[in-house]
Amino acid sequence: MKIAVCVSGGGTNLQAIIDAIDNGTITNTQIEVVISNNADAYALERAKKAGIKAVCISPKSYESRAAFNEDFLKQLNSYHVDLVVLAGFLVVIPPEMIKQYRNRIINIHPSLIPSFCGTGYYGLKVHEGVLARGVKVTGATCHFVDEGTDTGPIILQKAVEVKQGDTPEVLQRRVMEQAEWKIMPHAIDLIANGRVSVEDGHVIIDEK
Ligand code: GRF
Repeated sequence: MKIAVCVSGGGTNLQAIIDAIDNGTITNTQIEVVISNNADAYALERAKKAGIKAVCISPKSYESRAAFNEDFLKQLNSYHVDLVVLAGFLVVIPPEMIKQYRNRIINIHPSLIPSFCGTGYYGLKVHEGVLARGVKVTGATCHFVDEGTDTGPIILQKAVEVKQGDTPEVLQRRVMEQAEWKIMPHAIDLIANGRVSVEDGHVIIDEK
């Protein structure tokens, strides 16, 4: 299975995917291209070190969002990938891309959807919300991307304990280490091996 990984920042989820392919946790998969909207993203360094093609495309370089959307889709299609992986990608996915790649775009969100998700809940703000509410368990969710924000069919989730005295930064790191970097590679491997299907908006996993 050929995948494109879309990034905007540090790329620790990208690194988890690269490492999982290298150590066999992810099978039958190759990263065809890394796409970033941010030329300074450290994720691009990670791609380079791993010998993976990396390209930059940003809405800021286009006259209109429509022009960006059209070119983004055209460039993505040129790589002929089977799956698009959003790993901390902070750009709204064009509706036309979601349509063409129905149930072939996955995202990692750092909470147990439907809690602490949707507009305004991204990055550290998710963990700030978790701490402000005082929940005792949080986690991460890997889901297919649909037209909404963090609303697509859920593939995998993993719970993480919130500890007394946690700061948003400490909690973010725990959620990444204990959940994000595990369920994203697991989801990719399941999809690469044909063990994931979507029926009536719900994900069915062939547990084998
Ligand atoms: C992660 O916290 C992820 O949950 C969110 O964006 C962040 C990406 O981090 N979607 P990285 O760029 O993978 O390190």
